[in-house]
Amino acid sequence: MPIKFHQNSQEFHLFNDRISYIIKVLRNDQLGQLYFGRRVPDRADHSYLVENGYRPVMSYVYDDDYDFSLGNVKQEYPAYGTTDYRMPAVEVKQPNGSTVTNFRYRSHRIYAGKPKLADLPATYVENNDEATTLEIILHDDVINVDLTLTYTIFADYDAITRSVRFANHSDQDYQLTTAMSMNLDLPDDNYDWLQFSGAWGRERQLKCTHLRPGIQSVGSTRGASSHMQNPFVILKRPHTDEFQGEAYGFSLVYSGNFLAQAQVDAYQVTRVQMGINPFHFSWKLAPGQKFQTPEAVMVYTSNGLNQLSQTYHRLYQRRLARGYWRDRPRPILINNWEATYFDFTEGKLVQLAKQAHELGIELFVLDDGWFGKRTTETAGLGDWWVNRDRLPNGISGLADRIHRLGMMFGLWFEPEMTNRDSELYRHHPDYIIQTPDRHPSQGRHQYVLDFSRPEVVDYVYNLIAKVLRDGHVDYVKWDMNRNITECFSAAFPADQQGEIFHRYILGAYRLYEQLIQEFPKILFESCASGGGRFDAGMLYYAPQAWTSDDSDAIERLKIQAGTSYCYPISSMGAHVSVCPNEQVNRYTPLKTRGDVAFFGDLGYELDLTKLRPDELAQIKNQVKLMKHYRVLFQFGRFYRLKSPFTSNITAWLVVSPDQQQAAMGYFKVLNDVNAPYRLQRVPGLLADQKYRVHEEGGHDCGTYTGSELANIGLVTSDAESEQSAATRDVPDFYSRLFIFEVKKD
Ligand code: DGJ
Repeated sequence: MPIKFHQNSQEFHLFNDRISYIIKVLRNDQLGQLYFGRRVPDRADHSYLVENGYRPVMSYVYDDDYDFSLGNVKQEYPAYGTTDYRMPAVEVKQPNGSTVTNFRYRSHRIYAGKPKLADLPATYVENNDEATTLEIILHDDVINVDLTLTYTIFADYDAITRSVRFANHSDQDYQLTTAMSMNLDLPDDNYDWLQFSGAWGRERQLKCTHLRPGIQSVGSTRGASSHMQNPFVILKRPHTDEFQGEAYGFSLVYSGNFLAQAQVDAYQVTRVQMGINPFHFSWKLAPGQKFQTPEAVMVYTSNGLNQLSQTYHRLYQRRLARGYWRDRPRPILINNWEATYFDFTEGKLVQLAKQAHELGIELFVLDDGWFGKRTTETAGLGDWWVNRDRLPNGISGLADRIHRLGMMFGLWFEPEMTNRDSELYRHHPDYIIQTPDRHPSQGRHQYVLDFSRPEVVDYVYNLIAKVLRDGHVDYVKWDMNRNITECFSAAFPADQQGEIFHRYILGAYRLYEQLIQEFPKILFESCASGGGRFDAGMLYYAPQAWTSDDSDAIERLKIQAGTSYCYPISSMGAHVSVCPNEQVNRYTPLKTRGDVAFFGDLGYELDLTKLRPDELAQIKNQVKLMKHYRVLFQFGRFYRLKSPFTSNITAWLVVSPDQQQAAMGYFKVLNDVNAPYRLQRVPGLLADQKYRVHEEGGHDCGTYTGSELANIGLVTSDAESEQSAATRDVPDFYSRLFIFEVKKD
């Protein structure tokens, strides 16, 4: 068993071939954290790691025994109010106003496999031998509440998942006000903290700072994981880079309000926590009731950030994403949004689809504006029936025309919203999230529906399911364009209003689950004004997501690079759009736009009927190339070689699982004159194997062994090391795509 319990020392050792995690039941029966890192040999007793001598101005667990303070010890799931003054992982408010708890070890269970989480997304196994699970039950005698810490370690992924379940066995009501999914006390503070922050149109930009004493955190209070912060952080050693060094990743499988924080204490212990944001959260734990936290996924590597990301990619691709599309190459799509916005007719759509089909594009997506009175963004959300003025043959009529072309048909929804000008709102004004006696604020002229109420979710489900049942739909883009304000639900009493943000997201998950169960072959793509809810929770339901509303190729270098630290290439919707770009007004070569979008789920989002013949020919070639190499791009092993955050050049590599094939995108933002000589090392290939290297378009770059490519590198300076880029017609924002294929003699 990869989880051992040492009875005498009361220690648990979780391990696979590469990582170890060690927990100990402390003197007072609470749980101590001893080690998380590279695999170490098993050992019967690690008591030497519990350093806990006297220190001034601390308080002590036992009278007249100054050797044991919780404030000095590294813990698994700490509480506040006794002898630890740091941030707690759990807080339970009791009827007398106290929040003091003492959760002590009671029992444990080790078993093969991994349990499902009730109503929440989580990683999973297909066979029980893929992972082993440890459940430790802690109990507080005074309040008679159980707390179960669940850990799963995978055999093939260097990841440990954690979540926590509470059960109230008393006859009193409690308020759970903090219930983090994980806590990890690391023994020192020599780490850089990496977060992925941004805004609409510039999501998940890498920010790196060295840890400092005190608390550093990211989180969301918007009801969605948000554009601004992402529920994913990394701690790395200062010298760690993409290819070597230690790093820990922390990812929350959750789409609502979250908090991720690191607290460095006076003794340089780093406490990492992640979970539902305690701000504006409380959960009434009534007698007999349970509460389940979301899952956190911790990954350790001693081989650099690329390896950390690759572990998340493989795990999330294979054991978080689910269903028919999980392992399938994703269809190349045309989306009409930036081609027509709200200004379309059935004729125009079919014309666009025909043009797309001639270029080899496989899926036509009808975006916003097909339903109710939705001809502008001020009306119609919630009225999920076709607008016959625009589409006289209905959704099925249009879908059939698209299908007859030999293409798949996709449709846009925004299930969680309504406009004031809608039938839904006229008939059910009480269905929105709003606070009594307060003005309900709008965003994009819309309100958020109260998905904490099952009847509201059911109402939306019935309408959407009917369209999908009748409409012959193959793909759904599920959008979500505003965040929650005046958070309150008419269906819950005062002492449960702190539950609404969480109940809302549970409602959204339930709607997703019902739809994917009923329509298992539909490909779902999540979206939230671009990448406003790009998180591991959503990946459980929708294997791909619209990465950002900013489709400019140069902006996308940072957005896609930042996203790739946690999320797989197959999860990133990446579209070629018009120039000048609609977001930044920039002209970039069509080749660059294509080359950037190859590192994702390729799509086109522009009016193809207005392009020149040479542009259409170029797109036809891009589509052909993507079809040929799509499995490599979407499911290969992805490496960041050069970072857009620190360099004028970005380089990305994908290597096929059998290492017979690879592709490298090489993007230069601004031209330089009289440029330096450049060699780009290409890792990940078979050392002794010979690879023929050619550029997309046919240019032969020679034949080299994997060892030469990894150690010497590929010359990339030839087209740019002249006095003037103009003489070679090399523009700004230019890109090259290198293909590596094993040479067959
Ligand atoms: C926001 C999305 O991110 C866009 O792609 C588009 O679907 C619009 N909403 C439609 O309203």
